[in-house]
Amino acid sequence: MPLDTGIPVIGRSIVGQPIDRRDGRLKVTGRARYAAEFDIDNLAYAVLVQSTIASGEITGFDPSEAQTVPGVLTILTPDNAPRVPQAAPGQSETSGPLVAKPLLQDKLVYYNGQHIALAVADTLERAQQAAALVRAQYREAEAQIRMQDALGSAYPPKRFRNGARPPDSRRGDPEATFTAAPVKIDATYTTPVEHHNPMEPHATIALWEGDGDSKRLTVYSATQGISNTRDALAKLFGLKAEQVRAICPFVGGGFGCKGNTWPHVALAAMAAAAVGRPVKLVLDRKQMFTSNGYRPQTIQRLRLGADAEGRLLALMHDGLTSMSHPALGEFAEPVGLASEMLYAAPNNAVTHRLVPLNAPLPTYMRAPGEASGSFALESAMDELAAALKMDPLELRLRNYAETDPHEDKPFSSKALQQCYADGAEVFGWQRRPIEPGAMRDGTALIGWGMATATYPMNRSAAGARILFDSDGTVVVQSGTQDLGTGTYTVMAQLAADGLKLPLHRVRFELGDSDFPKAPVSGGSQSAASVGSAVIAAAESARQRLFELALAANRSPLAGAAPDDLELVDGFVRSRSAPHRQIAIPALLTRNRLERLIVEGDAKPADEKKRYSMHSFGAQFAEVRVDPELAQIRVTRFVGAFAAGRILNMKTARSQALGGVTMGIGTALMEATHIDPNTGRVVYPNVSEYVMPVNADIPDITTIFVEEQDRMINPAGVKGLGELPIVGAAAAVANAVWHATGIRVRDLPITPEKILT
Ligand code: MOS
Repeated sequence: MPLDTGIPVIGRSIVGQPIDRRDGRLKVTGRARYAAEFDIDNLAYAVLVQSTIASGEITGFDPSEAQTVPGVLTILTPDNAPRVPQAAPGQSETSGPLVAKPLLQDKLVYYNGQHIALAVADTLERAQQAAALVRAQYREAEAQIRMQDALGSAYPPKRFRNGARPPDSRRGDPEATFTAAPVKIDATYTTPVEHHNPMEPHATIALWEGDGDSKRLTVYSATQGISNTRDALAKLFGLKAEQVRAICPFVGGGFGCKGNTWPHVALAAMAAAAVGRPVKLVLDRKQMFTSNGYRPQTIQRLRLGADAEGRLLALMHDGLTSMSHPALGEFAEPVGLASEMLYAAPNNAVTHRLVPLNAPLPTYMRAPGEASGSFALESAMDELAAALKMDPLELRLRNYAETDPHEDKPFSSKALQQCYADGAEVFGWQRRPIEPGAMRDGTALIGWGMATATYPMNRSAAGARILFDSDGTVVVQSGTQDLGTGTYTVMAQLAADGLKLPLHRVRFELGDSDFPKAPVSGGSQSAASVGSAVIAAAESARQRLFELALAANRSPLAGAAPDDLELVDGFVRSRSAPHRQIAIPALLTRNRLERLIVEGDAKPADEKKRYSMHSFGAQFAEVRVDPELAQIRVTRFVGAFAAGRILNMKTARSQALGGVTMGIGTALMEATHIDPNTGRVVYPNVSEYVMPVNADIPDITTIFVEEQDRMINPAGVKGLGELPIVGAAAAVANAVWHATGIRVRDLPITPEKILT
């Protein structure tokens, strides 16, 4: 790798180089416009009113006082809100993108903090004042707040993985082999509710124009999926997809909570229709804790049975995860999926159950399933290593799965062994004593822990288009999003290489649902999906430019053989006679074209039927524990990741730093506390919802083990959004055990849990 200058090195492939993110300067200078910042004429402001009880029914509203606030335009309640036809609950991907509930269509209250009304006024302050004055009367019912009290109502998910597979799986005879195994671990691990807390809150500006068939709804909305937002709103309001446009050029973090079209997006549009003006609705930080999902609480039982050499005979993972009332939809955190395929255990069983509570609908949060699940699995593996007095990395190697034991298929590529080796070497893992409590620095206890990471390669159909203007401008467009992950940057890199243009000649545009359709930026799929479409579009463009070069008026390439042509630095050129060339703008002019537009798309075929496709990694953590204060500091962290081709070493490293940091927060800090009496979030703010700050994060070393994987997709990438959080919390928890001899199975590992 060249030095990290952020400037492409001429003469080599632009993909792979550590290019500075293209949106960076715009963001730090305040010129990047986020959803709430679009300047729209005649804007009105909406503020949500949320329930103050956890369960029951609204018996009446008194909006009279709110209506006296000057500038109030309307107070929407279930009594007067426009009826919308969508009857189905939200987040059901079986029937296409939907708006989640509730939408002020009835007076049932399912959780504390549920939207029950909306105040709209000509200024934000007046809307806030009016919202504060809306009075609701309730008939309160008994609420189920604590997951531990509701385990009796656990039920299997109805649409697990969108109905693609059952929630349970098994191979062999896990119970019998576990019972007979010479070495056994049977332990239960618990993780709390966590909230995504992106810096940018959810925000939507909704604008209606026209009437009848020319009616059009435009939303500027903070989202990970503009196409889904468009489709969900079209369905909800009975419009054609072309009548709705979703715009989102920048996202200030999502981590999964902007993956759904949440009710406030539709409520902004309903309010705009009601007042006949564009309406802006921004969730405040407190509302962000009840309006857009969260990582559900989990209770996970792990049973591992091994022989005396540490070979797994049986692996069982039973996952219970918290849920809302089923009327609101379904979200099942798939905690056990990695336990099916990560180790070569011949006997295996995994179950997933949901525990309904008076809580909002949970949702995806960075590595949904794998993040919580790997804490349980990788802690249990560490406990097994301790029981065997074996090095935890050696235990992983003894159970290395050369092929996917669950799907019984080869991996398209799997450089996990190299991740273990490289990570261990950089960390110095071989010097680790087997016994806990054996390393000290003065009075501090030092501990080393490790864990495995894995995440599936996901990909969906995507399109891209390239516009060549006769003035030399080249613009590539796709209806994708950049969550801060680097989409703008890596797509420009792929396009520049594909078109053989210098990087500065290519502009990449995203965030407009009128661009060719791309999937939601979730499941780490954008680089693979959109990258493959950009490559396809560039290939079509190359063919089209060659045709034009041969057809151009007075072309220097007239009569050349098509396979003698190449694209070089903005010219179509003859390979055999390089002085014969024509620049792209001249090519357009001599074909009497103002502009050339070429589209390309790419979608997965049946490669997943033949291969198991996953990224992998190895996480190593060092902690330092003050035995008197029980203070835990992570002092070193090494993550080694194999995720296919790395498009940009700099943005890739940022993804890894972010994932590991979030994993350290999961291990030691993050938890949403919910009052067991009222169902209210106790600290709905980011000062008391504790997350790591710079002072909490050590030097994180990231290693990328590149894989050349021709099977996965044309871009050759597996995705990096989620992988680096997986296993990070377990590596820290295992290091805490190694330092102290105390096994904490309940996250986060706060000081009182290791006080003895
Ligand atoms: Mo991710 S949790 O799929 O945005």
